[in-house]
Amino acid sequence: MIESQDTVLELRDIRVHFFTYDGVVKALDGITFDVFKGESLGLVGETGCGKSVTVRSIMRLIEDPGKIVNGTIMYRDKDILQMDEEDVRKLRGKKIAMIFQDPMTFLNPLITVGEQVAEVILLHQGLPGLTEAEQEKVKKDKMQEILKEEVVKVFELVRLPDAASLYTRYPHELSGGMRQRVMIAMAIASNPDVMIADEATTALDVTIQAQILKLLQNLKDDLNTTLIFVTHNLGIIAEMCDRVAIFYGGQVVEVAPTKVIFKEPIHPYTKGLLKAIPLLHAPKETLDSIPGVVPNLVNPPGGCRFNPRCYLAEKNPEIKESHCIVTKPDLLEYGSNHLVACHVRAKEQNK
Ligand SMILES: Nc1ncnc2c1ncn2[C@@H]1O[C@H](COP(=O)(O)OP(=O)(O)OP(=O)(O)O)[C@@H](O)[C@H]1O
Ligand SMILES: [Mg+2]
Repeated sequence: MIESQDTVLELRDIRVHFFTYDGVVKALDGITFDVFKGESLGLVGETGCGKSVTVRSIMRLIEDPGKIVNGTIMYRDKDILQMDEEDVRKLRGKKIAMIFQDPMTFLNPLITVGEQVAEVILLHQGLPGLTEAEQEKVKKDKMQEILKEEVVKVFELVRLPDAASLYTRYPHELSGGMRQRVMIAMAIASNPDVMIADEATTALDVTIQAQILKLLQNLKDDLNTTLIFVTHNLGIIAEMCDRVAIFYGGQVVEVAPTKVIFKEPIHPYTKGLLKAIPLLHAPKETLDSIPGVVPNLVNPPGGCRFNPRCYLAEKNPEIKESHCIVTKPDLLEYGSNHLVACHVRAKEQNK
């Protein structure tokens, strides 16, 4: 449940462009949403709609040829996009931790998983229970001992079996599900305010996937943190998330509590998406229930990027001509915490 409406993150009008040889890919076109403290917020949408670019922007991980060309991302009272490199480094891992889809690209193959988690603890907390002066004096083997105890505790938190003997194992000696748990261990070892999981479970088989999802949910509650959960799978959103932001073509079209999205979707794209709820194990694919194709982001449709596929715009040609193809619709409020960006809906309801 969402306990309070304190916001931890406020994204406003984020625009990200990739300057490629084929032209400028306008990947994000004014992404705006809040993340409430203690909630689990799902980001959902078809492949290429900008979910990963959005969470990478929060971590300031957009690299060449990409550039965040506009917007603010407030973390508490600081704009992440204005922070210096030193502050960004502190933010990553310590305050906001990311769990990626493929642990093998993230874990160092040459270092034992125990040492990798130990490194995170040392970096972010120092030696637990000791002052800095005391830490200086501790011998290396004693330090290893203290750290190992801490690591085993974290391994137990993420329900890794046989936590003590796992310390000296290398990533390739573990199963996919166990590696994913090690990565989650690294994320929580720094006691972050916000955890971001970007398609963290899609590479795993369905049973393991369900276990990891359950684990993330439990950890979020036990550690009292906030979870941003990225997926193209609405079935997972229904089980995991308090609220959901629906992405289309680099824009956010609707944000609402999960129950409201399923019961009373307002945006025509959300309605189409709900008709095509994929099963938990369905592969990534585009939606055949909505005619048309996902937009080309080098030359995107003007205004609302969904307009070429939108039956509502089709039915209201005047509004389409004067608004949908001309200006990007703002997110307007349609109920408690229910935001929708649609010109036709806005006209219907005199907004
Ligand atoms: N390095 C890059 N160079 C050029 N374009 C990029 C780059 N990274 C991302 N993009 C473009 O940005 C858009 C958004 O990509 P993003 O990875 O955020 O999609 P996504 O919603 O996470 O999709 P998926 O569900 O497949 O993970 C896509 O059109 C993609 O092609
Ligand atoms: Mg992605």
